[in-house]
Amino acid sequence: MALYSEKVMDHFRNPRNVGVIEDADGVGEVGNAVCGDIMKIYLKIEDNIVTDVKFETFGCGSAIASSSMATELIKGKPLSEVLKLTNKAVTEALGGLPAHKLHCSVLAEEAIQAALKDYYDRRGMNYDPKKFLDSSSYEDFHR
Ligand code: FES
Repeated sequence: MALYSEKVMDHFRNPRNVGVIEDADGVGEVGNAVCGDIMKIYLKIEDNIVTDVKFETFGCGSAIASSSMATELIKGKPLSEVLKLTNKAVTEALGGLPAHKLHCSVLAEEAIQAALKDYYDRRGMNYDPKKFLDSSSYEDFHR
């Protein structure tokens, strides 16, 4: 069996939503200290809906495919759903990732959450930290 699914290869070779949103409403940048890869997500939000999303990823093919898939999964979605996007959902949508590449999909989840927090912070809006996924659960993937 091939190491990477056709979907992973497709999103790696032809990533969706690459770029920058200059007037983004929320921007999130995260990195993985072990591999050094960095992911940045830009959100445009209107009426609690993600109307546009772009990403810049300086990282491996799995990170690029994960960013691409994650942006597709949240585009047009209400923030309540975006908050719930897990790396597991991204991985499943990609048709799976090898175990040693799961941390790449975690970057996508973390970057989206960071961008949402930035959106709430910029607007001075209160948010319930408990609604954000617990980053301590990522520990295993970061090693
Ligand atoms: Fe670091 Fe993929 S190897 S994000």
